[in-house]
Amino acid sequence: MRIPIIAGNWKMNTNLTSAAELVNALQTELTALVATGKVQTVLCPPFPYLDRVSALTRGTGIGVGAQDMYFESKGAFTGEVAPSMILDFAEYVIIGHSERRQLFHETDELVNKKIHSALANNLKPIVCVGEPLETYENGETDVWVRGQVHAAIKGLDAEQVRGLIIAYEPIWAIGTGKAATGPGANAVIGISIRGALADLYSQSVAADVRIQYGGSVTAKNIDEFIVQPDIDGALVGGASLKADEFIAICRAGLPK
Ligand code: 13P
Repeated sequence: MRIPIIAGNWKMNTNLTSAAELVNALQTELTALVATGKVQTVLCPPFPYLDRVSALTRGTGIGVGAQDMYFESKGAFTGEVAPSMILDFAEYVIIGHSERRQLFHETDELVNKKIHSALANNLKPIVCVGEPLETYENGETDVWVRGQVHAAIKGLDAEQVRGLIIAYEPIWAIGTGKAATGPGANAVIGISIRGALADLYSQSVAADVRIQYGGSVTAKNIDEFIVQPDIDGALVGGASLKADEFIAICRAGLPK
């Protein structure tokens, strides 16, 4: 049984006041939803607000995640944040988001190192994969996404892979208002991502890993994704910054 998981990636948004206001506006509803045991929710604020968001959500069952981390545990890495520093406040960490890959030149190799390090430090990685527009238009999504999955999980054992959350976020759908279709996203997740996991490990591993869809998810279109058999929730950007919208998305995660 894969419990749906809805995560809000706040990206580089909010300030100390608005971050706290957002959590306060979400808290009652999300706490009640999570208490059903049928859906999980995660808030991923910018690093400086992890402490505050973690304090405000303590005891609610609402998860907290960081948006990135470095793979080393300490040392002369100016500007970077170690896994143990995140673990003080959060349980999840987004790794390999396309914005980090594209804007900050993160390679598959770096993403792989970060995943190994997150797992070694008891953080739950939300591993992002997804193809650019040109790849999509050329019909090369399957090869691209399988390649990213292979590279990201290289060297992990089956138990470690079971502990991952994977997010399929086609780059052309991120922040564009042009979400994938439910069946389109389901096909990539079911065939390319679960297919890669089955090839590398086993059908049982492929069937156990939770895989989210991300890219212009809103309260209006979430149902289209959540009804799909291979989609286990969503990684939400813009719509996670609006309390009512995010609550509605999380509510949609409850099995009908
Ligand atoms: P949007 O929901 O704003 O398209 O962002 C998706 C995303 O990148 C989440 O990580």
